[in-house]
Amino acid sequence: MIETRDIWFSYGDREVLKGLNFMARQSEVTVVMGKNGAGKTTLLLHLNGLLRPKKGEVRLNGVRVSYDKRALFELRKKVALVFQNPDDQIIAPTVWEEVAFGPANAGLNLENAKRALKLVGLEGYEERLCSQLSGGEKKRLSIADAIAMDPDFVVMDEPTAGLDQPGFDSIVELILMLRELGKGVVIATHDLELATKVGDRFYYLDAGRVVYEGESIDYRLAKRLGIRGFAGMIMIASTTDTSVEQIVNFNGDSEHEILEKTLKAVLKAYRGESVLLKTGEGFIEGIRRILEGLK
Ligand SMILES: Nc1ncnc2c1ncn2[C@@H]1O[C@H](COP(=O)(O)OP(=O)(O)OP(=O)(O)O)[C@@H](O)[C@H]1O
Ligand SMILES: [Mg+2]
Repeated sequence: MIETRDIWFSYGDREVLKGLNFMARQSEVTVVMGKNGAGKTTLLLHLNGLLRPKKGEVRLNGVRVSYDKRALFELRKKVALVFQNPDDQIIAPTVWEEVAFGPANAGLNLENAKRALKLVGLEGYEERLCSQLSGGEKKRLSIADAIAMDPDFVVMDEPTAGLDQPGFDSIVELILMLRELGKGVVIATHDLELATKVGDRFYYLDAGRVVYEGESIDYRLAKRLGIRGFAGMIMIASTTDTSVEQIVNFNGDSEHEILEKTLKAVLKAYRGESVLLKTGEGFIEGIRRILEGLK
C-alpha cells in the first residue's frame, strides 16, 4: 500500500497540496481526477519521491519514506512513474537500450526488460530508434520502462492523452493486465472513459485538497467541479443505485440510432437501472422533457 498522510507542498510560495491524504493498494487501479492545476501531477511526483512534502509523510507498506539516497533508490524500485510526456522520460537511442537502462542500473535481471517489451506489444522493436517511434509507441515504451523494474506500483500521468482508439484500447488492456499481475496502478486522468473502464477507487482533487474519495465515480460532483469529460453529461439513475452499468455514447451515430439508443437508455433508467448518457446540453434538455413526461 502506498499512502500520503496530510502532505503539504508548495512550489516557491505557491501552495499546491494542502493536507492531502491519499491511499492506493496493489491489485487495484486508483484514479486521480481534477481540473487543470488541481495538483494531480504534484501528488504523483510525491509517490516515488521525486518531490518531498514540506509537511506530512509518504508511506510505503506502512513504512515512512525517508529521503536519503538509499531509501529513494528502494522506493523507486517499488514505485515506478510514467511521465505524461514520453519525451521527458525516454533517454536512450534505441528501444532495447531504453527499456534495459533501468534494470541494468538497478542490478536487475534483463529478462524483466524483455518481458516488459512483450507486455506492451513492442517485441521486435528492440533495434528501432526511440526518436522514430509514433506517439502511441513511445507511450507504451515509457510504460515498459516502468514495468521493466518489476515494481509493486505503476503510477501513470495522463496515460491516454493524445492517443487514438487503438492506442487507448491498448493502454486499457495494459492497465488491466498490470492489475491482474497484482500491481497497484495509479493514474491521473481527464479521460472519463478510461476512469470508467479501469478504475476501482477514485479521488477528486480540487485546489490541492481531496474533495471526493470513493469506489464509484460521482458524476454530479465531477461535473460541478468542472472536471473535463463531465461537462456535457447527465446521469439518469435510481436514487438507490448510483453505480453506472452502461455508458451510452452518441458520437457519430445516425439520427435513427440516436433515437433508439435514447429510448432504450431512458427505459432502462425508468426501470431503475443506471445509465450514463454522454451527450450535449441541448440533448440533455430533451431527455429531461422525456423524463418529465414519464412521471
Ligand atoms: N515546477 C513548478 N513550478 C511552479 N509551479 C508549478 C510547477 N509545477 C506545477 N506548478 C503549479 O502547481 C499547480 C498544480 O500543478 P499540477 O501540475 O500538479 O496540476 P495537475 O492537476 O496535474 O494539472 P493538469 O491537469 O493541467 O495536468 C498549478 O497551479 C501549477 O501551475
Ligand atoms: Mg498534470
